[in-house]
Amino acid sequence: MHIHLTNEPTAEVLVLPIPQTDTLSDRLTELAGRFGLEASVLQQDFRAEAKEILSLYLTGGRKVFLLGLGKEPSAIDWLKAFRELFFRQQKRLGPMVAVDLKAAGPDALEAAVFGIHWGGYDLKLYQTDKPARSGFYEGQGELEILTGDERRAEAGEALARAAALADTHRQILDLMNAPSNYVMPQTLADWAVASGQKYGYSVTVFDKAEIERQGMKALLSVNKGSEHPPVFIIMEYKPADRPGAKTVGLVGKGITFDTGGISIKPSTNMHLMKSDMGGAAAVLGTMEVAARLRLPVHLIGIIPSTENMVDGKATRPGDVVGSYLGKTIEIIDTDAEGRVILADGLGYMVRNYRPDFLIDLATLTGSVVATLGYHAAGLFSSNELLKSRLVEAADRTGERLWPLPLWEVYREDIKSDVADVKNFSGKPVAGAISAAKFLEVFTENHPAWAHLDIAGTAFADTEFGTQKNASGFGIRLLTDFLRHLP
Ligand code: BES
Ligand code: ZN
Ligand code: ZN
Repeated sequence: MHIHLTNEPTAEVLVLPIPQTDTLSDRLTELAGRFGLEASVLQQDFRAEAKEILSLYLTGGRKVFLLGLGKEPSAIDWLKAFRELFFRQQKRLGPMVAVDLKAAGPDALEAAVFGIHWGGYDLKLYQTDKPARSGFYEGQGELEILTGDERRAEAGEALARAAALADTHRQILDLMNAPSNYVMPQTLADWAVASGQKYGYSVTVFDKAEIERQGMKALLSVNKGSEHPPVFIIMEYKPADRPGAKTVGLVGKGITFDTGGISIKPSTNMHLMKSDMGGAAAVLGTMEVAARLRLPVHLIGIIPSTENMVDGKATRPGDVVGSYLGKTIEIIDTDAEGRVILADGLGYMVRNYRPDFLIDLATLTGSVVATLGYHAAGLFSSNELLKSRLVEAADRTGERLWPLPLWEVYREDIKSDVADVKNFSGKPVAGAISAAKFLEVFTENHPAWAHLDIAGTAFADTEFGTQKNASGFGIRLLTDFLRHLP
């Protein structure tokens, strides 16, 4: 799909986004006049509810799609409306489409165009008799964006951002949606290496032997039941022209499949656990986007990655294992494996990089899903500045975050009788919080650490499929956070 900015669209198909305002009926009267239609008909049939679509077939073969945005639409409302329209109507749109974005500010414009890109996402990765893709998303697709002349420069930047984000995001969706016989720890490492080569940032991958030399015993303990070796991925992007740039460390949970291990999960929803590398996906995606957009930040990404399998060699409940920082962990439940591998990811980050800001992302607990459902990720941080910066980015992007506490009283839950810490409280309460308290132990009191529990948001219901599928949660959020860094 090619995109250009224009004031004189030539496409036969026009998409007109319309917010729900008090003056909607005047707006519809004006449009009716323009298209030679009866105003009362438009007013009756179109309320501009979010994602509402009214298709108008005009004489001469022209088509107009009125697209409702709802009341006071924010960037995410623009994104979702456009994603849905372009996904559902792609056959009817034809290969050439004009979109009137004259009323959209740069954030809304970026969101709308990102939504258009995303609408072309194809979840049918392995279907052999797929219907042909619509022309619009093939090479010959043309998208004409109408903007005012005075806003051309900023619109151009917003479009470039949307295109880079969308391209990286699509690859990350594929990694997330791909099953675990296609995406293994080494697959994530290969992706990182290729991305680093393409966009100019450095990538180091520790293989199993190096992980052993480094003493990453926590990561190794989770890997024990798996046929596939673990990897430890370190990515670093440092813009040469920004010597004083802030350092941000990102750590992502990269469990390519979570059976639960010996504390095995029930089978009903186990297939969804191919998505247990949502944190890793967010870190990979953010690294690549930051490098593509040359963001003025020194960014380090770390991904400990392994499967969590059931086997005669697997770690048992009750086993005590070591860690990169030397602290010992009593494994009460082998299904609480994410925090165990993150112990080594965080430990390595704080010991070797001491970033100004440290953020980890993980599909960590069912508890956060019980707490916040699928619409917000849990945010844990004792640093008020970092917390508010993240919440601001969340509000701008619509990738919602909601704070949960890290009070010291919860430390009790992970005190072990025999080791420095245990990986599960044994209680069916406050699971997301005790998991966060566990991680805190491995941050060595980092003054600006935040933990994002994205178990509910990384894999969610979308129009793309009947089962939960990847959202790419975290990439837009973190990119926005990095762009607005002080
Ligand atoms: N990967 C799961 C968490 C999860 C649950 C992610 C649902 C996405 C959707 C994690 O490793 C896990 O199994 N957590 C356990 C921890 C418990 C055993 C302490 C959980 O939350 O039940
Ligand atoms: Zn688990
Ligand atoms: Zn897990």
